[in-house]
Amino acid sequence: MNHSIRNVVRGVGSYLPERILTNFELAKTVDTSHEWIVQRTGIEERRVAADDQTTSDLATHAANRALKSAGMSPNDIDLVIVATTTPDRTFPATAALVQDKLGITKGAAFDIQAVCSGFVYATATADSLMKNNLGTRALVIGAETCTRILDWEDRTTCILFGDGAGAMVIEALPVDEAGDQGIIASRLRSDGRHWDKLYTDGGPSLTRGLGKVRMEGREVFRHAVGMVADVVEGVFADSGTSVEELDWLVPHQANRRIIEGSGKRLGIPAEKVIITVDKHANTSAASVPLALDTAVADNRIKKGDLVMLEAMGGGFTWGATLIRW
Ligand code: UT7
Repeated sequence: MNHSIRNVVRGVGSYLPERILTNFELAKTVDTSHEWIVQRTGIEERRVAADDQTTSDLATHAANRALKSAGMSPNDIDLVIVATTTPDRTFPATAALVQDKLGITKGAAFDIQAVCSGFVYATATADSLMKNNLGTRALVIGAETCTRILDWEDRTTCILFGDGAGAMVIEALPVDEAGDQGIIASRLRSDGRHWDKLYTDGGPSLTRGLGKVRMEGREVFRHAVGMVADVVEGVFADSGTSVEELDWLVPHQANRRIIEGSGKRLGIPAEKVIITVDKHANTSAASVPLALDTAVADNRIKKGDLVMLEAMGGGFTWGATLIRW
């Protein structure tokens, strides 16, 4: 591993499809209410991709915005990683389609499947690859069209998810140029014994189809806070930093109660925790970069800040990454 390299965030961007689906609208088609959804999840509305929009379209919009904020062009990028559970096609990778839409012909592109933890997995993967000289400027993207795999008659799942995309541009710099900026440490975890608590009931090999989301919500909830605390505390330990030094926690946006429970367990004050789940629901791998972009755009996250990304989801998978902005 090349210890003289630090991978620095150069820009972020995100994209939400235009169509807003409110809780009130959902309550007309399934037995639920705005009040129940807000009280149990904090979600007020979600976005739904247009019929002719695919995950790679959402990803490309977010990528273009991230490139703009980085002051770079697609030509500068030599690594594209897309974290998604809802790829355009079984193959090729959605990352290859994004590459094509952006006109990138060099470097490597591939997808990562770690469900809701996908963006954290993708960031840690890009960091590792670049420290091994396999890429100099990466686009790390989380993009999903979750609404395509929902059972709209199952009120325990269809109220929870939405569509969207977020992207981050990372550049490998010599340590003396990067200063203390960049990705500091990551922890990735999974435990496949829990696969049947959050899954799709079909797939290319199992059913030659797509399948719909199935979930034991209470079981996911029960594990989430402890798993998140485990990796976040691990990253603090690995990096020699402490919770007191943290400026921002950017959590996976699945449920406001899980986010607040994790913050409390870790001793992070609520005003340092970014919450955007009210506006886009659970967008799986897109949720962390959507929250990140919101907090960068409204000037909460500033240069020099210490920022912790964390997520937990199907698999189960979970992970955290600490970045000096
Ligand atoms: O990235 C990870 C992705 N997954 C998650 O983050 C999900 C984690 N889990 C959760 O967020 C919560 O478990 C839910 C929001 C899914 C459910 O909240 P809960 O407080 O755990 O509710 P519950 O499952 O214990 O259900 C309470 C009641 C049940 O009725 P009974 O059995 O008490 O009569 C449900 O049938 O609420 C009922 N219920 C609903 N009521 C109105 C379930 N879904 C709905 C609904 N509207 N949409």
